[in-house]
Amino acid sequence: MFDFAPTADADKATLYDDLLSAADALTAGERDAVANMANISALIWQFLPDLNWAGFYRMIDGELVLGPFQGKTACIRIALGKGVCGAAAASAETQLVEDVHAFPGHIACDAASASEIVVPVMKDGQVVAVLDLDSPSPARFNEADRAGLEALIARIGARLA
Ligand code: SME
Repeated sequence: MFDFAPTADADKATLYDDLLSAADALTAGERDAVANMANISALIWQFLPDLNWAGFYRMIDGELVLGPFQGKTACIRIALGKGVCGAAAASAETQLVEDVHAFPGHIACDAASASEIVVPVMKDGQVVAVLDLDSPSPARFNEADRAGLEALIARIGARLA
């Protein structure tokens, strides 16, 4: 059994350091990508405050398909280039969106979502999945979140593919 927990009142950098250590330990030695995505979604949900959705879409036959997540039920398939997730997958770059209502083509799976960050997961130069976090608060995510989540995916991304 694992018992990871965030430090109370930690700043963002500390939260991400702790999250990364826990994620690394939790996925070490496990080769099933879906199992690892499930546990990483749960860890993010536990460690990061003010989220209403956290999870993965996997690239399957050229479109994004819903993977393991925490939060309300979500759109199942997203075409490349559509919405924030599709933009991240098409560009292979993180999308940090302070106001989802101002993002052209944003897909509102949960009307409560106000801001969003999506980080691509790469393997052999190809996008194999995206990590998507939504928040009910506008501008919930900033450069510290981008750095923390990109570091997380850089560390464990190979275990998600
Ligand atoms: N809002 C996303 C769709 C996925 S849900 O937020 C879980 C988008 O525009 O790609």
